[in-house]
Amino acid sequence: MSNATTPMPTLEQLAETLQQAVNDVYKAGGVPGKKVKNFLNGVWLGHALHPVLTDIPVGCWTATVTLDLLSGADENSDLAAGADKALGLGILGAVGAAFAGITDWSDTYGKERHTGLIHMLLNVGGLTAFSLSWLLRRKKGRRKLAVAISTLAYGVTGFSAYLGGDLVFKLGTMVNHNAWTHEPEEWTSVSGAPVVTEENTLYKVDANGTSVLLVKQDNRLYAINETCSHAGGPLADGQLEGDTVVCPWHGSRFCLKDGKVIDGPSTYKAPSYEVRQQNGKVEVRLVSDQ
Ligand code: FES
Repeated sequence: MSNATTPMPTLEQLAETLQQAVNDVYKAGGVPGKKVKNFLNGVWLGHALHPVLTDIPVGCWTATVTLDLLSGADENSDLAAGADKALGLGILGAVGAAFAGITDWSDTYGKERHTGLIHMLLNVGGLTAFSLSWLLRRKKGRRKLAVAISTLAYGVTGFSAYLGGDLVFKLGTMVNHNAWTHEPEEWTSVSGAPVVTEENTLYKVDANGTSVLLVKQDNRLYAINETCSHAGGPLADGQLEGDTVVCPWHGSRFCLKDGKVIDGPSTYKAPSYEVRQQNGKVEVRLVSDQ
């Protein structure tokens, strides 16, 4: 008989496996998979979709707990019927939020990934408990137990929401990494660029402290911010694909002409610049409608 035991998977191993599985599913989906991922990231919205959807369960379940309290767990009360409806709606919203959240999480690592996994596990636990409460509410005489379970689940998801706040406000997950850049709003000469650049080559130049990606195509110069808005990746180290550039870190794709996001996970366009050559120097200026 063997003494070998299977070690308990650590959270990191679990994160690795789960993240790999999510990314494999999206990859196997090809172009449609990419479209679904873009949708769930919120590329179409210009903003992460996950925090929009989380408002549904948070609001609904707050209504459930409040109405449960006011109805005194009396299953014949009109308030109890409202509590049950809000609970069901919250479950639907939570499922949508979960898909969007796990999609954002699939492009994280380190502390973000670790905190995101705990946030996810707590939410799965909370959602399971709310679902159990919803089922119990449909059986006669089980309302008190159902209310106790959903109240406990509300506490769990509340703590999880706190961790979700940490992910954004402390760790910067899915925030715009160009939010604090001092953009060149007047014509600013760049350093690091040869006067005549090679066609279809990614150049990283500096415009008074702002990193700018400069590309020459069809004898015309295009410039967007060189820092990927998703998590700060270096776009100059990415891949040129037609008139777009792909970030080397998680594959966000930006149009060189206007900075528009073509593929996520980034949901924020790259600031784009007008370019001119003056007195042997390359100058850039932020496009005025940004
Ligand atoms: S840093 Fe994540 S896609 Fe660029």
